[in-house]
This record gives sequence, structure tokens and C-alpha cells, in this order.
Amino acid sequence: MFDIQEIRSQFTILNQQVNGKPLVYLDNAATSQKPNSVLEVWNKYYTELNANVHRGIHTLSQLATEEMELSRRKIQKFINAKHDFEVIFTKGTTEGLNLIAYILTQKLKKDDEIIISYLEHHSNIVPWQLLCERTGAKLRVIPIDENGILQLDYLDEYLSEKTKVVSVNQVSNALGIVNPIEEIIAKTRKNSDAYIVIDGAQSAPHFTIDVQKMDCDFFVFSGHKMYAPMGTGILYGKQEILEDLPPFHGGGEMIATCSFDGTTYAGLPFKYEAGTPNVGGNIALGAAIDFIEKVGQSNIQNHENALLEYAQRQLLEIENLKVYGEKANRTGVVSFNLEGTGISSDVGMILDKMGIAVRTGHHCTQPIMDFFNIAGTVRASFAIYNTFQEIDSLVEGVKKAQRMLS
Ligand code: ALA
Repeated sequence: MFDIQEIRSQFTILNQQVNGKPLVYLDNAATSQKPNSVLEVWNKYYTELNANVHRGIHTLSQLATEEMELSRRKIQKFINAKHDFEVIFTKGTTEGLNLIAYILTQKLKKDDEIIISYLEHHSNIVPWQLLCERTGAKLRVIPIDENGILQLDYLDEYLSEKTKVVSVNQVSNALGIVNPIEEIIAKTRKNSDAYIVIDGAQSAPHFTIDVQKMDCDFFVFSGHKMYAPMGTGILYGKQEILEDLPPFHGGGEMIATCSFDGTTYAGLPFKYEAGTPNVGGNIALGAAIDFIEKVGQSNIQNHENALLEYAQRQLLEIENLKVYGEKANRTGVVSFNLEGTGISSDVGMILDKMGIAVRTGHHCTQPIMDFFNIAGTVRASFAIYNTFQEIDSLVEGVKKAQRMLS
């Protein structure tokens, strides 16, 4: 068990008024707030330790390097990677997915196939479209049903020796649907030699992740959605695959030797970490993991699921309110519209006036919106510090919006 008020006291930002009302922050799928412990570690790095890593003989450089490598090992443990060098620091999920799509270029040829799903964020669509343009490969998309549930019969139909990549998210950012990635990975392994990429942007903040048990080839996520600073993220890749594939960015730190006759590359993880990394952010990501582990991942998951169930039950009592993916297995997100009352942003603006922060619009998932024939939804998304009273405020706010917009 945990004390929600004690947790909230660790997030100074939550203790403020917005538009004259207590802030109710329900936009955690876009970015979570950061606990003071994370901010202190970030601040301490810049006030006491700031130096470039892996390059300096001097004390500060060595201390900064030690702290960042300690953070890498925390992340290794957090996702249960076999080796710490399989953990690559990135700017976030988008960079991780673009990196993978780029380094796979030489592995694909005309008429090969890449399978994604309808539930993907644009960052798990566009990099693959760009890869298709570079190679002549084709994109195949697993469809969804009216509940937003993936139709895995299509995966069976699509998988073949032509399939070179299967890339899906574990949790949909727009609808919060938890996808059956165990089944997707098992089917893919059985019926193809494809690289398996899992977008964990919306799952890492909520679930225990075990990349070895999962048996994916790549797993990517962002730090800023799990209590760490923006501009942080992780790409996990299996050792033998990362060793086989070419680098992404060229530059400092990623070379073993460099001359005008040619360059040889550093070993993992440095081969994929060209340039000065976000040292303070990467160290603070380690502190965010300490925070999550201290609260307990099962506490986080249970609390967020209880909030979701409570929110959905109350919202569905509102006449003409539609929840998208209502019957699907979901986590952390409720995405809805007030039918017949204009666009989602109108509702979002009214909620904002009441101090309630939600995201509205297409959530960088236009294909999902097209499927439901809507322009967008109102999305409330939860974190460990949200309370049942805040859900009550949301429900009251939505009712008020309905009265105002009808
Ligand atoms: N991908 C983030 C979201 O879903 C920004 O809001």
C-alpha cells in the first residue's frame, strides 16, 4: 500500500492553481510530472557534476561517467536486459524508432514487408513509410474492430518469408488498449524471421517490463512519460542484432578509430551514442526508476487501473458519451467524446478553465481517428499521483461542458 498524499507531496508542481482552480493533471500519456527526487538529481548534476562523459581524465568527467553508467545499469535491471550495453540512451521513443528503421535499411529490399498495426502512433508509422520509400518494401497494417481490438487473424495472413519487420506498441497512446504482444511475438517467431520491435512508450510507465521473457529484438520507450526529464529515452536491442547492424549517427564517441582512409566503430553501446548525450537527463532517468521501484510497480498498476475503472464507470453514465475501446483491455487512458457537442477541443478548453488538463485532438494517431470517423477525442490519462477526487472533478467538468455545448 502507499500513501497518495505523501506521493503527491513529492510533486511540487501539482500543488498549484490553474485558472483559479486546483490543478487536476490528467495528461500523463503526453508527459508525466517529475518528482522532486528526480529534479534534485538533475539539479545536482548541473550544480556539482557537469562534465562531458567518457572523454575526460579529470575528476568531474569521471564522476559524471560513473553516474550515467550507474543509471544505464538501473535501466538494464528495470527492463531485465541481459547486458547493460544493450541499453542505448536516446532522446525518446521517436528517436529510437527512427534509429531502428534507419539501421535496417540494408536488410530490406523491394517487395519485402513490414507489419504494423492500426493502433500505432505516427512515430511507429512514418519511420517505416520512409524505410519503404528507401527500399521498395511494403507496409501491411493489422486492422482493428469496433472496440479497437487488433484483428490478429490478419497477422496470421500477413506473416510470410517476405516479412522483415513487425513493429507494434504494447499500449496504444490514444486509447490505452493493451495489445497481446506475447501472442504477436510468438506468431511472428513461428512464421517469419522478422525483426520484432515493441514501442513501449505507454507501457514502460505502467508495467513491469522483461525484454528477455518478451523475446523482442528491440524495445523503445521515453523517460519523460515515466517521471524523468524530457529528452530522455531508451532503445534496447539484442546484442547480436545491434552488433550486426550499422551505426545511426556518425560523430564523436561512436568510433574506435577514425582516419581519412576510413573509420572503425566503437563497441556497444557507444556505437549508437554519437555526440554528447543528455547526461543530466540520463542520470535523472535512473532517479525516476528509483522512484517507481520505491512506490512499487504493482501499486502503480493497481492504482491506475482502479482510477481507469472508476472514471469509465462514471463517464459512461453521462448520456451521449462514447468511450473508444470501451470493451478492450486497457490501462491508464480513457478516450471519449460527447456526441453531438462539437469538437473535442471545445470540451478540453472548458475543462482547462476548471484547472483540468487533458489532451484533445488526434493524439498523433490519425488512422485511429479515421477508423472511428472522428477528428479527435478527449483523452484523460492517469499516473500514480492522481486521486479519485480528481476523477470526480473530471466527470463534473465533462457534465458542465455538455451543458454549455448542447
Ligand atoms: N505521444 C504523446 C501522447 O500520446 C505525446 O500524447
